Amino acid sequence: MIKKSRFLIWSITLVVIYMVTSCNTSENKTITDSYERKVDSLLSLMTLTEKIGQLNLVGRDGNRNSATQIGPKKANDIRKGLVGNLIGVVGAAPNREVQRIAVEESRLGIPLLFARDVIHGYKTLTPIPLAEAASWDLEAIEKSARIAAIEASASGINWTYAPMVDISRDPRWGRVMEGAGEDPYYGSLVAAARVRGFQGDDLSKENTILACAKHFAGYGSPMAGREYSIIDVSMRELYEVHLPPFEAALNASVGTYMTSFTEVNAVPATVSKFLLTDILREQWNFDGFVVTDWSTITQLMEHGVAADSSSAAVASIKAGVDMDMGSQAFVRNLENLVKEKKVSEKDIDIAVRRILLAKYRLGLFEDPYKYTNPEREKTEVLTPQNREAAREMAQKSMVLLKNENQLLPLSKSLKTVAVIGPVADDPRTHMGRWKAEGERKDVITLLHGLKKKLPNTKFLYAKGVDYDTKDRSGFLEAISVAKQAEVVVLAIGESQKHSGEASSRASIDIPGIQMELVKKLHTLGKPMVVVLYNGRPLTINWINDHIPAILEAWIPGTEGGNAIADILFGDYNPSGKLPITFPYSVGQIPIFYSYKNTGRPDDGSDTKWASKYYDIPNEPLYPFGYGLSYTNFKYSDLKIKKSKVTMSDTITFSMSITNAGKVPGEEVIQVYTRDLLASVTRPVKELKRFKKVLLKPGETKTISFSITANDLKLLNEQLQWITEPGEFQLLIGSSSSDIRLEGKFELIE
Ligand code: GLC
Repeated sequence: MIKKSRFLIWSITLVVIYMVTSCNTSENKTITDSYERKVDSLLSLMTLTEKIGQLNLVGRDGNRNSATQIGPKKANDIRKGLVGNLIGVVGAAPNREVQRIAVEESRLGIPLLFARDVIHGYKTLTPIPLAEAASWDLEAIEKSARIAAIEASASGINWTYAPMVDISRDPRWGRVMEGAGEDPYYGSLVAAARVRGFQGDDLSKENTILACAKHFAGYGSPMAGREYSIIDVSMRELYEVHLPPFEAALNASVGTYMTSFTEVNAVPATVSKFLLTDILREQWNFDGFVVTDWSTITQLMEHGVAADSSSAAVASIKAGVDMDMGSQAFVRNLENLVKEKKVSEKDIDIAVRRILLAKYRLGLFEDPYKYTNPEREKTEVLTPQNREAAREMAQKSMVLLKNENQLLPLSKSLKTVAVIGPVADDPRTHMGRWKAEGERKDVITLLHGLKKKLPNTKFLYAKGVDYDTKDRSGFLEAISVAKQAEVVVLAIGESQKHSGEASSRASIDIPGIQMELVKKLHTLGKPMVVVLYNGRPLTINWINDHIPAILEAWIPGTEGGNAIADILFGDYNPSGKLPITFPYSVGQIPIFYSYKNTGRPDDGSDTKWASKYYDIPNEPLYPFGYGLSYTNFKYSDLKIKKSKVTMSDTITFSMSITNAGKVPGEEVIQVYTRDLLASVTRPVKELKRFKKVLLKPGETKTISFSITANDLKLLNEQLQWITEPGEFQLLIGSSSSDIRLEGKFELIE
């Protein structure tokens, strides 16, 4: 226990430092400059051991219900300055006590960072990020992250490991559920929205938290779709597909990056100077800090690029890693490495400075207890307003994939409805893999939501089958229940275990024998609706061919059941659009809308000498940008202001959209371009703009768009971003495969 007197001396020292640096900070100095001066002053007081402790991030100890969630050894390590950051210790009260140990019982009282994977909500869970991306509502996506930050920051957390901004075109990879889909343009907008949501407009506020752009970089293209496999993408794909969302996060002032488990150009990301220094620091001028993913430093030995943890630590810190998550390689090796002159104290100071700067920016030195106010935890977490926002986000995220003969919305005068399937009343799957502090008891399942909406309707429930077993014992009950009903609602798909980290699947069919039950129920000839739960695109070909109505519900979060009931019974008109292609077959992967034409495009003729398959079509089951509505929309009147524009000009154009149906609805108007002639091959289309518009029945709106020459840039053969003159096609539509208006313009020197 540090003596009070010594603590008093240090506190006075720190206050003096603060006053000296503060009063020297002239008005026009940026906040960062003043923080940097304070950081430098604090750094000058730190021992090498204490500096290395700031680079150390460790997890919670076992018992979640203990007063501090850390054991005595870890508490002593904090007192000794060997731990500067924690992951997984949550709650205002526990974190207050752990922070108190750091602030009052360590020599310099440097506050701790408390991190948690707040991926899609903290206690009030919103739909998984891939689902939120299907809303195409950037404001709603930002608001979702804002609410997550408010709840997390009220519960002792000041750093989240989100947003995950990996672009992926491979639904075999379970982590597609965490991202924003296949398109780098849209993924960049979503990345920035999420960073703004978490970090707000002022990191020093008590309800804003550090965000973390992960996993830097290229993790979304694991070879063979297998988790933790290597990526072997071209530099072109890296620059065109994987880096843009990370740069967008930077431009939104993201405070931290996380290295990926994979390698780029055969160099593991954790020791990639190209990624962590050349790009992140020298090209992008990032001044935050880089944390590794879990134990990636010691995994360098498995990669075969480090002989031992000591050399792994050297390579990591020299490449640009600042904080070690979970491996202890830094805290166990760096002090000796400095003595052996294999690492300079200056190298360590650079990392420490970045981390201390983040702590200053969070306001932790002014008030280390700001995130541990039990009153906030009582009043700002799982509030009715947060629930309502989660319900709205879930409504907006769902995608109507099929609605033959307008089976949906169902009539509210139905007397008996069968609700069948493993997900119908499973709160755990509604929460998803990254459930943070969400609890089963707070979830509105589909069955619960349906009963709440129509208390006078009889909902007959049968689980029927589990997600992934060979047990058919529930089939009879399900068939019996279905026979008694006017309509059958099937809640089927993946459990929360089937997607997320360490959940790659070689098949993307609906797991287990669920389809056996679906086919048996189908023989009853009842009207059937499939509510699909999944964290990734699935090959639901048979369902698409035989079931009249299909609603993509994803993993919908705490209010998922209410949102689905709202849609099924017409209280919300579905408006979601797919942010990722649903393959017709797993054999098509990677499949995405912005493909290249090749020299032998499949033009639909029966020639075999074309880029096609012998046994399946090239087309996906459902394309990027696809989603139906209870109404329909007419596109008309495309007007391009100038058909020839110079490089410094802006291409402006407008079009009209009409709600030609009988109910209000939202349409996501998508604007694609095609570069018709360039020095390198170009995709057949690329998303450049979109707008989600709400229209009353019969209403027409004129929507204007503008595109700059910079929006049309390409990576030339020398991997330089340039804009080339030439002719471009303008393709405007309701999905990437449903183009309703076409036009052309020419970019001239
Ligand atoms: C995991 C994930 C990463 C997460 C981290 C901390 O392995 O790859 O996304 O933030 O560990 O939980």
